[in-house]
Amino acid sequence: MKIIGTGSALPSLVVTNDMLSEFLDTNHEWIYTRTGISQRRIISDESLVELSVSACKRALEDANLDAGDIDFLICSNVVNHYVTPGLSCVIQGDIEAKCPCIDLNSACSGFIYALSVANAFLNTGNVKNILIVCADELSKIVDWNARDTSILFGDGAAAMIVTRGNNLKSMHLSTTSAVEPLHYQRELESTPYSKKEAFTPLVMNGKDVYKMAVTASIQDINAVMHEANVSQKEVSFYLLHQANVRIMETIREYLGEKEEKFPKNIHKYGNTSSASIPLLIDEMNKNGQLKDGDLLVMSAFGAGFSSGACVMEW
Ligand code: COA
Repeated sequence: MKIIGTGSALPSLVVTNDMLSEFLDTNHEWIYTRTGISQRRIISDESLVELSVSACKRALEDANLDAGDIDFLICSNVVNHYVTPGLSCVIQGDIEAKCPCIDLNSACSGFIYALSVANAFLNTGNVKNILIVCADELSKIVDWNARDTSILFGDGAAAMIVTRGNNLKSMHLSTTSAVEPLHYQRELESTPYSKKEAFTPLVMNGKDVYKMAVTASIQDINAVMHEANVSQKEVSFYLLHQANVRIMETIREYLGEKEEKFPKNIHKYGNTSSASIPLLIDEMNKNGQLKDGDLLVMSAFGAGFSSGACVMEW
C-alpha cells in the first residue's frame, strides 16, 4: 500500500478559547496549558457531507485521479446526521464514484483502522485505488455546558487515496473493551416491547483516557517499530492523533525524541477525531514537509478503548 493523494476541508467558523469563556466557566490559559488547544473549527453553515466531499475532491486532484478510478471507499465516522445510509454512501453519490462503500467506527483510531482495512482489500488484488475519508462533527454530541469536554473537540474532514505498493512496513491494532471512560448513547424510540432508551451525553473520564492513550500509544509504537525493524534514528516523523499536546509530549519524552519529529496542529483544530492524522498529513504534504522515502510512524487512540499504529514510507 502507498499514499498517492491527500485532501482536507474544515468548517469556516473559528472558535477561540476566549469565545468559549463567554459562556463557559473557563479561560484560554487553562485550556491552552492543559491541552495545547488555542482554537478549533466548528460546523455552522456548512454540513459534514459538504466538507467530506471537498476533502475527497482535493485528494482525487492531488492523486490526479477521477472519482471513476476509485474501486473502494472507506469512511471513518462517529457522528453525522444520517444513521443510515452510511456517510460513505452519501459521499459516494456526491463525488460521483461508483465503487462499493463502507463506514467504519473506531472512534479517534478510525484512520489507522481504515488504513488496515484498505491494505487488506488491496492485498486481495481485486482493487487498485481506495479512497479513505475520515470525517466527524463531534461538536454535535458534546454537551456545550460541560467545560471538561466541549473545549477539546473540533470538526473537520480529511481524505487520502491509497493504492498498491510496498510502503506499509508494519501495522498493529489493539482494542480493550472499556466503555465507561468515554462514551455517548443516542436516544432510541420505545417499541411495543421495550421502553424508550435514555440518551446519555458524552461522558469522559479525562484522567483515565489520558493514561490509556499514553500506555496504548507507546505499546503500539514499540510494536510497529519492532515489527518493521526500524530504529528511532530512521524515523522522520511520529504522526500522533491530535488529542492533547501533553499526551503527545509524554510519548515524545518516553521515546527521548526531538520536538521537530512530532508535528502538531492541535492548537488550530483541537481533537478532530479520526480526521486528525490525515489532516496533519495533508498539511505536511501541501507544505512540502514530506520527502520521498520519509519513514512515518502513525499512532492513534480513542473510545473503545481502541488504538492502532503503523510504519509507512512516504
Ligand atoms: N476550564 C477550567 N477548569 C476546568 C476545565 C476548563 N475547561 N475543565 C475542567 N476544569 C477543572 C476541573 O473541574 C477540575 O477542578 P477541581 O479540581 O476543582 O475539581 C480541575 O480543572 C482539574 O481537572 P482535571 O480533570 O484534574 O484536569 P486534567 O489535568 O486531568 O485535564 C483534561 C483535563 C480533560 C484536559 C485531560 O484529562 C485530558 O486531556 N484527558 C484526555 C482527554 C482526551 O484526549 N479525550 C479524547 C481521547 S481520543
